[in-house]
Amino acid sequence: MFYSNRLPQVLLVLHLCFAFILSPFAQARVWNNTGTGTIVFEEAWTIPELLTATGTLAANLLDIHNQRLTQMDQNGIDYMVLSCASPCIQGISDPAVAKAMAVNVNNQLASQISNNTFRFGAFAALSMHNASEAAAELKRAVQELGFLGGLVNDYQQSGENNAFKLDTLIYYDQPSFDVFWKMVIELDVPALHKNSLQRLSSHILGLCTNGVFDRFPQLKIIVGHLGERIPSDLVRIDTQLLRQLPLGMPMLLNVTTYFHTNLYETTSGNFATPLLQLHIDTIGLDRILYSIDYPFVDIPSGTVWVNGLDEVLSPEDLLNLKRGAAIELLKLNS
Ligand SMILES: *[C@@H]1O[C@H](CO)[C@@H](O)[C@H](O)[C@H]1NC(C)=O
Ligand SMILES: *[C@@H]1O[C@H](CO)[C@@H](O)[C@H](O)[C@H]1NC(C)=O
Ligand SMILES: *[C@@H]1O[C@H](CO)[C@@H](O)[C@H](O)[C@H]1NC(C)=O
Ligand SMILES: *[C@@H]1O[C@H](CO)[C@@H](O)[C@H](O)[C@H]1NC(C)=O
Repeated sequence: MFYSNRLPQVLLVLHLCFAFILSPFAQARVWNNTGTGTIVFEEAWTIPELLTATGTLAANLLDIHNQRLTQMDQNGIDYMVLSCASPCIQGISDPAVAKAMAVNVNNQLASQISNNTFRFGAFAALSMHNASEAAAELKRAVQELGFLGGLVNDYQQSGENNAFKLDTLIYYDQPSFDVFWKMVIELDVPALHKNSLQRLSSHILGLCTNGVFDRFPQLKIIVGHLGERIPSDLVRIDTQLLRQLPLGMPMLLNVTTYFHTNLYETTSGNFATPLLQLHIDTIGLDRILYSIDYPFVDIPSGTVWVNGLDEVLSPEDLLNLKRGAAIELLKLNS
């Protein structure tokens, strides 16, 4: 449970999604390494059974090999990691249905990219109703399907009829979820977070304040959309949370520190250069990775923005943002 009844209001509205990036497949991964192209990994895809969008967005969510790949070629994207569009499994309240659908989604994604793993990788969808079952599916997806990790979209809904009810949402920061984090560590993972604009991250702050990073110091989590504002507010977050320490909050360090040891962020859907510069000053460029959030955000707008950063970043730093940090974190070359 997040310290919701104790935290200042500003921290109450934070919700997120995240992915766990895992260790290399058994044999070395062969991918389209041009040496200069981008790598993007917070990119959405879905299956007809889970589709809620309509029109062009729906067509783009379902597509892999046509307009998506064409745009990758036109925009210098070497490699894209796909994951199931939000809410995916996290929107399914029934544990048995959620578990079966996660397997279904993962098998379909593996099958669809199987003829072009040179350009596409995948994160597993996971049912988070049960931590040990989530751990088992993550392991299967990585070891049997060759996935790079897993992705969780926000809290797991468990209320009746998939209704949004705060008291029926499942979070992942209590010791009962340690079995899941333990698997993530065993498979040698970092993790990625994305969410919708109106919601910020109680998940990330919950993981911090509940001591998950203290119990699993190697855990790496990537937060979407320029860190869901957290790095912009670190001074306030750290000083406010400091006041919670005497109330028994288990966190041993502070959120700023976790942004240097456990947390990363992507640029997905937040192509804001002044904000990027602030974040580089706050958490360091080595914690920041390029991603787009296609098809919710269009690919060319990302290309124009990231290439324009040559005005503010050195060639070496820009290459690290576009691909270097991702190659390392996704272990693409190991
Ligand atoms: C590799 O990626 C580039 C984009 O960076 C693309 O233009 C090229 O066609 C790709 N090569 C192959 C063989 O897919
Ligand atoms: C992979 O299969 C899809 C669906 O049949 C097809 O559209 C695509 O061209 C294939 N890609 C490659 C590289 O063979
Ligand atoms: C989680 O799933 C495992 C394996 O299916 C089962 O043994 C365990 O009882 C479940 N835990 C909960 C809390 O339902
Ligand atoms: C956060 O922790 C670091 C390292 O211990 C420390 O230097 C910094 O002053 C702390 N920040 C706040 C606001 O307490």
